[in-house]
Amino acid sequence: MSSAGTTARILSGGPVADQVLAEVAEAVLALRAAGVTPALATVLVGDDDASAGYIRIKQRQAAELGFVSPHVHLPASASQADLHAVLEDLNSDKDVHGVLVQYPIPGHLDYDRALQVLDPDKDVDGMHPVNMGRLALGLPGPLPCTPAGIEALLAFHGVPVAGREVVILGRGATLGRPLAMLLAQKRPTANAAVTVVHTGVADWPRYTRRAEILVAAAGVPGIIQPEHVRPGAVVVGGGVRYEGRRLLPDVDESCAEVAGAITPRVGGVGPTTVAMLFRNAVRAAQGAAGLG
Ligand SMILES: NC(=O)c1ccc[n+]([C@@H]2O[C@H](COP(=O)([O-])OP(=O)(O)OC[C@H]3O[C@@H](n4cnc5c(N)ncnc54)[C@H](OP(=O)(O)O)[C@@H]3O)[C@@H](O)[C@H]2O)c1
Repeated sequence: MSSAGTTARILSGGPVADQVLAEVAEAVLALRAAGVTPALATVLVGDDDASAGYIRIKQRQAAELGFVSPHVHLPASASQADLHAVLEDLNSDKDVHGVLVQYPIPGHLDYDRALQVLDPDKDVDGMHPVNMGRLALGLPGPLPCTPAGIEALLAFHGVPVAGREVVILGRGATLGRPLAMLLAQKRPTANAAVTVVHTGVADWPRYTRRAEILVAAAGVPGIIQPEHVRPGAVVVGGGVRYEGRRLLPDVDESCAEVAGAITPRVGGVGPTTVAMLFRNAVRAAQGAAGLG
């Protein structure tokens, strides 16, 4: 690891995603050879251009990997009951293995309530309360994609995690909280001493400055500055905020002058998150086919 004042090693997510997706494509081939066509259904509510674009990208990627991806498009005026009915249909469809509900959904709908209707085994985001419970208990199940992607990213780049001090800024349900559970698990690529800090810890820099691995998961642009980073530490930027299409990361670029290794502004955690979604999808198909 480099020391302070030198340029940090860049922890790109692209090669990690490529490796995971190659494994997914191989597993899809094996499933097809066994007569199972893996299906990842997508659900879009409303006509938001960005959401429709994200769904198209995921459908294209699903097709490239050999999935079929039946799509349901509900109008922006759809009710909570309409959305639940779609999810119940997909739950009972034996040919559908994974379901992705594109977030955000229109403001009058409750995403968390809808998520609870989904069959936990088809929850490719790994965010269903049952899957959070499985994670907490160390039981098998789909893992939340961003945390799982961060573990894979660190492992791929040979960053030792076991026995090291990891500090996560943010305890949100998508990232900080599940990542803390994941990296504290008893496995060679985890097994860390994990501390989570948040707005309740006024002096959070006291913790981040001692972190060997610092994960930003706050969604507050530029909240992590060089003075919050231990020289030579590994810095993972998970938190981002979008202003229109502009991505504003938690980690200020100048942290690269202090860190030993750091995720890039673009192409770090994002690609690994998407790869984990497909890994969850293929595992769901394997599980349903009894081939897991
Ligand atoms: N890169 C990706 O692919 C990807 C994927 C998913 C999510 N994300 C990003 O990850 C971030 C976290 O998402 P989330 O849903 O897990 O979290 P969240 O619900 O947005 O919560 C943010 C967390 O950060 C803490 N926080 C916010 N401002 C703070 C401050 N000034 N000082 C200290 N702590 C502060 C909050 O503390 P309190 O709990 O005390 O309020 C909270 O725990 C978001 O930016 C999201 O966009 C990225």
